Amino acid sequence: MDIAVTRKRNKMRGQQRGRSVDAVALQQVLELLGDKPRRRDLLIEHLHLIQDKYGHISAEHMTALASEMKLAPTEVYEVASFYHHFDLVKEGHHAPPELTVRVCDSVTCQLNNAHELIKALDGKYEGKIRIQPVPCVGRCEQAPVAVVGTNPIPFANIDKVSQAVANDQRHADAPDCIKYEDYVKTGGYQLAKNIADGSLDKETVLTTLEDSGLRGLGGAGFPAGRKWRIVGDQPAPRIMAVNIDEGEPGTFKDRYYLERDPHRFFEGMLIAAQVVGTDAIYIYLRDEYAGIRKSMAEELDKLHANPPVELPHIELRRGAGAYVCGEESAMIESIEGKRGMPRLRPPFVAQVGVFGRPTLEHNMETLYWVRDLIEKGADWFTSHGRNGRKGLRSFSVSGRVNKPGIHLAPAGITVKELIAEYCDGMLDGHNFYGYFPGGASGGILPASMGDIPLDFDTLNEYGCFIGSAAIMIFSDQDKARDLALNAMKFFEHESCGKCTPCRVGTSKAVKLMSKQDWDQPLMKELSQTMCDASICGLGQAASNPMQCVLNYFPEELAQETE
Ligand SMILES: Cc1cc2nc3c(=O)[nH]c(=O)nc-3n(C[C@H](O)[C@H](O)[C@H](O)COP(=O)(O)O)c2cc1C
Ligand code: SF4
Ligand code: FES
Repeated sequence: MDIAVTRKRNKMRGQQRGRSVDAVALQQVLELLGDKPRRRDLLIEHLHLIQDKYGHISAEHMTALASEMKLAPTEVYEVASFYHHFDLVKEGHHAPPELTVRVCDSVTCQLNNAHELIKALDGKYEGKIRIQPVPCVGRCEQAPVAVVGTNPIPFANIDKVSQAVANDQRHADAPDCIKYEDYVKTGGYQLAKNIADGSLDKETVLTTLEDSGLRGLGGAGFPAGRKWRIVGDQPAPRIMAVNIDEGEPGTFKDRYYLERDPHRFFEGMLIAAQVVGTDAIYIYLRDEYAGIRKSMAEELDKLHANPPVELPHIELRRGAGAYVCGEESAMIESIEGKRGMPRLRPPFVAQVGVFGRPTLEHNMETLYWVRDLIEKGADWFTSHGRNGRKGLRSFSVSGRVNKPGIHLAPAGITVKELIAEYCDGMLDGHNFYGYFPGGASGGILPASMGDIPLDFDTLNEYGCFIGSAAIMIFSDQDKARDLALNAMKFFEHESCGKCTPCRVGTSKAVKLMSKQDWDQPLMKELSQTMCDASICGLGQAASNPMQCVLNYFPEELAQETE
């Protein structure tokens, strides 16, 4: 490119082009931002302030924010339009209704008639309230779930939703978790203090973690101890990023633990920060967990007011409704205030992560177990396990069982054992027919394959994986092909669009799967291309459910073509 053109572009960055700044909008933005820093990485946080206050983001607000943050309006638009939770209103267009009711229509909620609920709510409110079908909101054990404003309604029906709307119950309550004082009273933060004063040496902590065999619980299962060593060996300053995006349909374990015992996670985080040597921590929490955001902010304030050890810089960041931001490099982009598009690797985030610094990225639950592991020892963890596997797993179980919920069970347990021993069996009138062993992306298996140990690596040979251990169970009243289509629509909706095999592939797959007769050769070819050529795990795994229907539920396809 001509160097003069580059210079001119650089000079123009941060200048307003095309549209002048509306004085009223600017004043409103100034009031919302107050003395908050205008740093680029806070763009998403600032967009949230506008969305929260006005229920949408107007073109005038966007231009005013761009001016205030010294960004080009297109940069602000590009970011704002990427995230599902920002409602952009172009000039001359109508703002959405003042209240939105989101209704989850992902797999488990579909099993529980979410579509009928959406239809009934649409009929009742006729556009006066916005009824929005949305992907999994992380409460699958309470399916079907609606969210009035930010207030989640478990086991939702038209009466419960109407009541919440009529009573203006639109804000999520903070959960009644173990508070800082109570956590400290029962020995909390002692371990972090022991590391800080040298009475427990860091190498012992690292070795215990390695001996326990703890693997990352966000889905990829990378050994936690090894990750700490790799990042610790990188040049300082180092950063930690905590992944609480929890967007995989069927997964709600992070929510479960944060609603109960957030300080156990904070302590694990502070232990990791000391052992690995990280100066700053970014906690990325999905926007759907509004109640947890309140309790977490309160408890973090207490931690800052009364720090048990010297604290690194800690920031709580808010997602904005984009599943792909759970992918580690996309999350880093989002923390930097950009669109959540996965990065090409290498370099890996352990080397070049947040703000270009070596980054230890962990799922919340991985850190949650650190205190117990060190206190109880590696043997405690490895003494659990079944069918030749070791450790414990938090299974998020939902679907056609009597007792859905988080079940802490031995790694390697089979789904049949899980249903019988932890879930009080199948619902009356339902026979076990099939299951998703790892959320929407981990594939689908039939009941006849219900004796496979559930753990990392054990499902690979069947074209499946356990991921975040989200087990969705369905019955002879359901069809695997319908649920696979639900999963594929989710991936189509959530594809970030950066690479063609995923962007075009998911949309093509939805079309093919919506037909009565499945074009099996074409689907197999498409699936292969998506797996082989997509940049990130979303596109690489998106065809798993479709492929599994082709492999394991051929009778459903034969019936349709008869
Ligand atoms: C599309 C996609 C979505 C993901 N979503 C999440 C998520 O919501 N939470 C999470 O912890 N990890 C998620 N991951 C895995 C992360 O990329 C990463 O492996 C993990 O946060 C690392 O932490 P861990 O080693 O403690 O598991 C996702 C991966 C992909 C490809
Ligand atoms: S695979 Fe999909 S989500 Fe991932 S980078 Fe490509 S388009 Fe984006
Ligand atoms: S909350 Fe509906 S599927 Fe998870």
